[in-house]
Amino acid sequence: MEYRTNSPEETEELGRKLGACLAPGSVVAFTGDLGAGKTAFTRGLARGLDIPDRVTSPTFTIVNEYEGGRLPLFHFDMYRLGSSEELFDIGWEDYLARGGVCAVEWSENVADALEADAIRVDIRRGETENQRLITLEHAPALPED
Ligand SMILES: Nc1ncnc2c1ncn2[C@@H]1O[C@H](COP(=O)(O)OP(=O)(O)OP(=O)(O)O)[C@@H](O)[C@H]1O
Ligand SMILES: [Mg+2]
Repeated sequence: MEYRTNSPEETEELGRKLGACLAPGSVVAFTGDLGAGKTAFTRGLARGLDIPDRVTSPTFTIVNEYEGGRLPLFHFDMYRLGSSEELFDIGWEDYLARGGVCAVEWSENVADALEADAIRVDIRRGETENQRLITLEHAPALPED
């Protein structure tokens, strides 16, 4: 499915809708440039999972964990990761086994570690400053407005 958003809030809202539909063990794999809106989308995922905390970029920690929602959210940023080997070193398989949602920014860097059926979220810039083109693959059907 392809969506167009015109503000960070609209991107977050799309994330919220997806988050509300996610099952335990879901992996959401993002692709898209610096500043595309992956973290904005993940903020929405957290809201859709009823997580009260504000999601911040995990760039310096690789993974942030949010409990206290319908399901736990594990928010990964693989920007600094050289290979998927490092992902296994930080316990990727343990995270998968915990029955939460794994949201993975810069999934390009760990492509070979991801299952083929992972939910794909690709975010590209549109023609204008605040426009984004967001493509979802393997996602559950989202409710229409
Ligand atoms: N339609 C839009 N959707 C999402 N973000 C938008 C949109 N329009 C403008 N922006 C801006 O783009 C930026 C997106 O930042 P965000 O941190 O979510 O990107 P990111 O993909 O996580 O980047 P990084 O790879 O650095 O982690 C924010 O500054 C936000 O205000
Ligand atoms: Mg980010």
